[in-house]
Amino acid sequence: MNFLIINGVNLNLTGKREKDVYGGASLEEINEKIAAFAAKNGNKVDFYQSNIEGELVDKLHEAYLKGGYDGILLNAGAYSHYSYALRDAIAAIDVPVVEVHMSNVHARESFRHTSVLSEVCKGVVCGFGAGSYIAALVGLQDALNDL
Ligand code: DQA
Repeated sequence: MNFLIINGVNLNLTGKREKDVYGGASLEEINEKIAAFAAKNGNKVDFYQSNIEGELVDKLHEAYLKGGYDGILLNAGAYSHYSYALRDAIAAIDVPVVEVHMSNVHARESFRHTSVLSEVCKGVVCGFGAGSYIAALVGLQDALNDL
């Protein structure tokens, strides 16, 4: 299967910012780990990161309009908590999206307890660091295989 992994605002600084929360691995290192895991299971993954809300919306549209992806993992960062534009984009596309967070957002500040994306996502994974992406990939693949 083919998956697209989208990281949003501030995720480019992973490994440099708030290491106690997000760990010391860079986004590139995390992506390498995900790609290796995906390849072991015969899957292919593409990666995209942007800090710009509209570019994330465009990428979701593109994934739908061009086709080729069985599913998408989206860590929208802080946009998860208030971006109705991203929510509408997820609802608009016919590709399943899993919401991912590295940290356990429910154990943090109250503004992080709300996600405006969850309701239109296939599932949500949070709290396992880089492992959240791996868990989301496994869950999405199994769901697509109807396991
Ligand atoms: C995050 C959690 C968000 O609340 C935060 O704004 C982020 C990262 C996570 O991966 O844990 O930037 O999405």
